[in-house]
Amino acid sequence: MSEKKTVVLPVSEDTIAYAADIIRRGGLVAFPTETVYGLGASAYYPGAAKKIYEAKGRPSDNPLIVHVSDPREAEDFAVVPDEFYRLAERFMPGPLTVVMKKTEKIDPSVTGGLDTVAVRCPDHPAARALIKASGCPIAAPSANRSGSPSPTEAAHVISDLDGRIDAILDGGACRVGVESTVISLDGDGGCTILRPGDVTADMLSEVMRSVTVAGAVTDPSLSGDRPLSPGMKYKHYSPRAEVIAYDGTLEEMIKAANSDPTERTGAIVPDGYAGKVNGTALLSGDGGADDSCHAFFALLRRADELSLDRVYVRVPPKTGKFLALYNRLIRAAGGRITKPDN
Ligand code: TXA
Ligand code: MG
Repeated sequence: MSEKKTVVLPVSEDTIAYAADIIRRGGLVAFPTETVYGLGASAYYPGAAKKIYEAKGRPSDNPLIVHVSDPREAEDFAVVPDEFYRLAERFMPGPLTVVMKKTEKIDPSVTGGLDTVAVRCPDHPAARALIKASGCPIAAPSANRSGSPSPTEAAHVISDLDGRIDAILDGGACRVGVESTVISLDGDGGCTILRPGDVTADMLSEVMRSVTVAGAVTDPSLSGDRPLSPGMKYKHYSPRAEVIAYDGTLEEMIKAANSDPTERTGAIVPDGYAGKVNGTALLSGDGGADDSCHAFFALLRRADELSLDRVYVRVPPKTGKFLALYNRLIRAAGGRITKPDN
């Protein structure tokens, strides 16, 4: 694709208006949300979504999420059941995406040919201001090159997409750090989690009759992803460094990292463990789910900046907000889990 000039703009009323103008004309703007940065295009402008796939190098059958500034806007392009409003009342604006039947109004390139559309109302003032000012829903995947870790800072977007998109709104670091929870509605008052995020199964069950977690959430071999190449099967969110998902105690993991003969080795550990890692300690905060999710993608990118060959990451529990981290980690590790005895 031809090189373009990408402008990086701090968020202000003026830059939002400028960015909205780009969206209205069918261009591409990266913008902050509370989860990760999104790469936005008008969901109504014919062919605009195609440019997203080109810029990201993303397979065009992987559908995009459509972002609205108010949940009611979904009625403009989706068949909205009552349950959506129950969910919206509790979780929107916020990091929850709901898959529903689509209407004709959405450009087919947005949904990868599916007859459903994923809807999300982000809880970030810049994201909502941009959607409002654009006057249309905004289709946006995460603003990374396909396969690499999702961007949680404007610098990550610049490193992946400079020269491939029109503008980047810099709103600082994203709060959550992993992408939204994606659910489908089962039609009987229940829902299925397709991708775990900051809105957990327990939280959803306050509103829904039942909550099922799709098998692919914890077992990437069930996700039906098309392998890019045999060695890349199920690989997502991957830095250049090899990610070792280590299923043991923190002490066992640090011991394994410290005795790994690989030249440049690092380990993601809570702040208090900095001094225990012989290689590079990548610090993830207090070790709780919020800090760990917030830091994960940024630290994978940091590992590449430091030219590490291997990064050890402890496998978190599959519960609560940690499930989102578990899901991203096993994909970043190519589906392999390493245990102390191996
Ligand atoms: O937090 C987020 O959700 C971020 C920010 C930018 O909003 N967006 C994001 O988009 O993560 P993306 O494209 O990287 O991931 C969208 C996920 C993919 O797993 C996609 O397959 C799924 O949502 N998805 C989108 N539309 C769908 C549909 N109609 N049916 C089932 N899954 C869908
Ligand atoms: Mg993505």
